Amino acid sequence: MMYDCIADVYDILMKDVNYAAYADYIDEIIARYQTKKSEIILDVGCGTGSLTCALRDKGYSMIGTDPSRNMLNVACAKDTTNIQYINQAMEHLNLFGTVQTAVSLLDCINHITDRKRLQKAFDRVSLFLESEGLFIFDLNTVYKFETVLAKNTYFDLSADVSYTWMNKYNKKTGLCRMEITYFIKNQQGCYKRYDTCNIERAYSDKEIIDMANRSGFELADMLDDLSFDKPKKNSTRKFIILKKK
Ligand SMILES: C[S@@+](CC[C@H](N)C(=O)[O-])C[C@H]1O[C@@H](n2cnc3c(N)ncnc32)[C@H](O)[C@@H]1O
Repeated sequence: MMYDCIADVYDILMKDVNYAAYADYIDEIIARYQTKKSEIILDVGCGTGSLTCALRDKGYSMIGTDPSRNMLNVACAKDTTNIQYINQAMEHLNLFGTVQTAVSLLDCINHITDRKRLQKAFDRVSLFLESEGLFIFDLNTVYKFETVLAKNTYFDLSADVSYTWMNKYNKKTGLCRMEITYFIKNQQGCYKRYDTCNIERAYSDKEIIDMANRSGFELADMLDDLSFDKPKKNSTRKFIILKKK
């Protein structure tokens, strides 16, 4: 599991992600689109639990699932009040009961590169979601894969965390291979090197909507990142809101 090797430093790498703002946003989506009151939220692909904690702090009971044990170990070292963590991939989701809302943040869906596995993942989320419940997740857009990630190389040589990031996006297969090497300064002032390789798939709106329909969802809306506007042609992240029929 790629995330096992960077679990200890994942929160450092994500320091610019405003999880509190995402929790506010999800809370507002639930208020606008969900008729049924949401008490329990499932955070699929919860990673180190940053969003899980931020939603718990808004008053929800949380279940966080992730296939990476090390990511969950980091999550479990934080305040777990009102949170239950389970080591499961989305396509093998198996809960004790149903939830009113499911969320998934930071392109977990793009991480499931096999279409059959993604269909199964939608089936499992649908199975444990009450009717009229929402499945809210974000996606890296096709635009982002084609023009931002593409075959580009990025680097950042900041003092505490520096990285080189090489992308190979294949338009024919829709797969993007991202090779990232991080150098992270530890408390002794030494840099530790982390080599990672991650593959994501670009999913078109149609593919996602067709799969969602087959799993018993209907599309409630598609939004630009952290916004209630429709996604633009050059949006790099979009939110999909599915409603269980
Ligand atoms: C970019 S991280 C996002 C973590 C967390 N949602 C956040 O917002 O910080 C992607 C996560 O997806 C998880 N993941 C990868 N494959 C998955 C799968 N098949 N089912 C569920 N989660 C998966 C990884 O273990 C990792 O924790």
